[in-house]
Amino acid sequence: MIKAPKFTLRFEKDRDLPEGDDRLFSESFVTNHEPIEKVVVRHLDNRTGHVIEIASGTGQHAVNFAQQLPQLTWWPSDIQDHHIKSIASWQQQSGLPNLNTPIYLDVTQDDWGLGTPGHPSSEDIVAIFCSNLLHIAPWNVSLGLLSGARRYLTPDGLLIVYGAFSVDGSHVSQSNIAFDRSLRNQNPEFGVRDTAVIQKEAEKCDLDLSEIIPMPSNNFMLILKKQS
Ligand SMILES: C[S@@+](CC[C@H](N)C(=O)[O-])C[C@H]1O[C@@H](n2cnc3c(N)ncnc32)[C@H](O)[C@@H]1O
Repeated sequence: MIKAPKFTLRFEKDRDLPEGDDRLFSESFVTNHEPIEKVVVRHLDNRTGHVIEIASGTGQHAVNFAQQLPQLTWWPSDIQDHHIKSIASWQQQSGLPNLNTPIYLDVTQDDWGLGTPGHPSSEDIVAIFCSNLLHIAPWNVSLGLLSGARRYLTPDGLLIVYGAFSVDGSHVSQSNIAFDRSLRNQNPEFGVRDTAVIQKEAEKCDLDLSEIIPMPSNNFMLILKKQS
């Protein structure tokens, strides 16, 4: 497998894959999926219904979650064509009955297309999961994610967000300071988001930031609960 750089925005295709197999591979998935999976399973294993995964990227997390949480129906999504193709390849090869064909979903849109053919219905969305998006995107993407959670989550539904964050205005490590700087150099609209700022915006969207869970490599999982 080709080694991808640590903070890649592009995922790599294994050159040995046959024509028509569009699976991409993420090195950070290999490194991080187990701790992410533990937290997500702990929060969702007593729930049934539909989960929308925002920005699924390669689709590897989607396969893993659908396997671990067979009582949930998983809806992966992305906005990039080659990512949607990769997710579709992973989905087809998994054969998992509870993992759907990926959908095009841009969180900044007011209408996520729910209830239209090939999309989940707008009822029974018990969770929205999103990993490694908010820092590699403009701030309006964070706002779009929060307002989508307000529109679509069931009462007590969870928005679960994984990634690099500063906590209450302070970076948690020197490496996160460097990461934040490198993101902003790539694009001034990118950058590590702060939990207190997220919390303030989340409250406007009827979401309570109920847990900030430290994860390996100075990352965090934010658990936001839709008010009942
Ligand atoms: C760094 S990747 C993370 C992929 C995957 N979640 C992971 O953790 O490996 C960021 C993903 O966000 C997607 N993305 C960027 N802007 C988006 C938007 N406005 N709405 C939904 N997805 C978006 C990109 O296409 C890309 O697949």
